[in-house]
Amino acid sequence: MRYLLLLALGTTALFASAQAIANPQATSPSEENNLLGLPPVPIPASNPQTPAKIELGDKLFHDKRFSVDGTVSCANCHNEKQAFTDGLPVSVGHHGLTGTRNAPTVLNAAFNQSQFWDGREPDLEGQSKQPPVNPVEGGLANHEPILEITRTDPYYQAAFQSVFGVSGKKITMDHVAKAIAGFERTLVSGNSPFDRYYFKGQTDAMTATQIRGFDLFIGEGRCVSCHTIEQDHALFTDSRFHNIGVGINQIQQDIPRLAQAFLEAKNKGGEVDVMVLTDKKSSELGRFAVTDELSQIGAFKTPTLRNVELTAPYMHDGSLKTLKEVMVHYNNGGVNKTGERVNDFLSGGIRPLNLTDPQLNDLVAFMKALTSSSISSKQAVPTPTQAAN
Ligand code: HEC
Ligand code: HEC
Repeated sequence: MRYLLLLALGTTALFASAQAIANPQATSPSEENNLLGLPPVPIPASNPQTPAKIELGDKLFHDKRFSVDGTVSCANCHNEKQAFTDGLPVSVGHHGLTGTRNAPTVLNAAFNQSQFWDGREPDLEGQSKQPPVNPVEGGLANHEPILEITRTDPYYQAAFQSVFGVSGKKITMDHVAKAIAGFERTLVSGNSPFDRYYFKGQTDAMTATQIRGFDLFIGEGRCVSCHTIEQDHALFTDSRFHNIGVGINQIQQDIPRLAQAFLEAKNKGGEVDVMVLTDKKSSELGRFAVTDELSQIGAFKTPTLRNVELTAPYMHDGSLKTLKEVMVHYNNGGVNKTGERVNDFLSGGIRPLNLTDPQLNDLVAFMKALTSSSISSKQAVPTPTQAAN
């Protein structure tokens, strides 16, 4: 945590004023390094960063009292030792209850144009209010218990007073959400071998197999059409939603009935956050659950690929265990097992690739070139294995 906190403060200083970005003296070389390959962190005018706010957000992120049985904090499912994921196919909340979806990393979530696999929340502030009151996560009936704690705990009383100038009943969930989001905006990490290769011209930063994988990524594999790379930075996401044949292939006969039932429940006041995380089949409807548009059935947000080596298992349902399985899925044109039928809503961008097994291994090697050097060396995870050639 210490490392991230230092980074946090460095980032705050960096983005406190816009002109600081262009001023190399505003950051030490190591901090600047960590941001290599990333665009500036977007900080909303309504929630400026301060060191005290970030520290408060860090505490809130780790507070297990914000759950019905006192065991679940954000960090349970977004554990810094596991690159801010939980390493599980689908997350476990209070009393061992399981949800329906894989916990994405919070690293670099600051750059997301929408939050959650289906993009149902526009920003980090909105996102952070959901987990404590989700029936399979924090399990609270409403936000009152959180406000009770923040209004009476001496640490929080002092912190909310100094950060927001509020106390007692004036502390609201908006303040809590702002502090958590402020903390999350410091969890950014670039400077991977790829960043040094591509943005700094260090031709030896990637191995030969990683370079071949990169060529496939932007060439025959067509990966870059969704996992995008810009001229001066790369987030590896187009921030759009695509059906790439995960989960939905198995339930396609049921889709018309499911979609109809979902819309009826939603019209009767059902909350999307609750419905998709408590019912496996509703979860598979993807972006449709948010927009009601049939064309978006089974479509999920393109995830970043930064640090993907550290965030297995993969996909919105955690159904693919390894990066190799992911490559096989793409190579088969959106099905995981040969013989499985693709679903009717599959994205036009997903077609069989006819790559060879060594080429799939090259793509996997390239995925491992996206691990931020600061994380792999500071955290309790194996160092990336780099193939010899
Ligand atoms: C019980 C496990 C669990 C807890 C607790 C939890 N999360 Fe999550 N988080 C998830 C899962 C699962 C998803 C994906 C859900 C979905 O997309 O429908 C998610 C999604 C997110 C995202 C969206 C990332 C993206 O790329 O779209 C952010 C940000 C996030 N969580 C932050 C938090 C914060 C902040 C807290 C505490 C207030 C928290 N989470 C608590 C499991 C959890
Ligand atoms: C049509 C857009 C599109 C194309 C093309 C595409 N992807 Fe994806 N990718 C996605 C989406 C959307 C997801 C999440 C899907 C889901 O969970 O249902 C994803 C998920 C992944 C994941 C899992 C990430 C995680 O955190 O779970 C990896 C790895 C990946 N893609 C790599 C690749 C590679 C390599 C290629 C090229 C061979 C590629 N993608 C081509 C859109 C695309």
